Amino acid sequence: MGTIMEETRYLTFALGKGRLAHKTLELLEKIGITCEEMKDKSSRKLVFVNEERKLRFFLAKGPDVPTYVEYGAADIGVVGKDTVLEENRRVHEVLDLGFGKCRMCVCGPESARELLMHHERIRVASKYPNIAKDYFYNKKHQTVDIIRLNGSVELGPMVGLSDVIVDIVETGSTLKENGLAVLEEICPLSARMIVNQVSMQMQTERIRRLIHEIREHI
Ligand code: PRP
Repeated sequence: MGTIMEETRYLTFALGKGRLAHKTLELLEKIGITCEEMKDKSSRKLVFVNEERKLRFFLAKGPDVPTYVEYGAADIGVVGKDTVLEENRRVHEVLDLGFGKCRMCVCGPESARELLMHHERIRVASKYPNIAKDYFYNKKHQTVDIIRLNGSVELGPMVGLSDVIVDIVETGSTLKENGLAVLEEICPLSARMIVNQVSMQMQTERIRRLIHEIREHI
């Protein structure tokens, strides 16, 4: 059933812009999927095609990737686990790609350790308000005030906006250079492949094969 459809229609990938997309293309190249026109840095093109394997790629802002996948505008998405958790879209998470490894943490000055221990009503600044809320309310049962920021979140405790932050820590150098530390670890993160729920059913074999091929190169 549907085998002709399976082979002929394009399978569309939404890739989170930046380092993640670059790493994903490297990985796809290992299994013989190339997209030369995507490598052209001067191009302003947004959608790229691999005719041979009937694949289509586009770059999107990370947080929009799960949205494209949920609505089926993309069959497959590659995005950080942080975004998967924060956006909480109805998609299948099928594969840990193993790169982009880092941790979601509660960070702040050492002096904030005590506030956390005593379950004080603290202020938490984050680019990830849903992850922060889930962690403090559902896991720690601590009432906090969450303040949403769009980046450079480390500024929060430094300028007195918040007591702590919930943010990604990779090497830890941003924290160190700004006199902050990891106070609690929320969860490990890495790049994930997500799949549209309908595509998973209609293109099962094609997607399974792809996952299998990729898995052998992780
Ligand atoms: C991320 C994150 C930290 C930093 C962590 O920020 O929010 O600030 O990287 O990396 P490190 O532990 O290796 O220092 P990003 O560069 O994405 O920019 P942003 O602050 O604007 O979110």
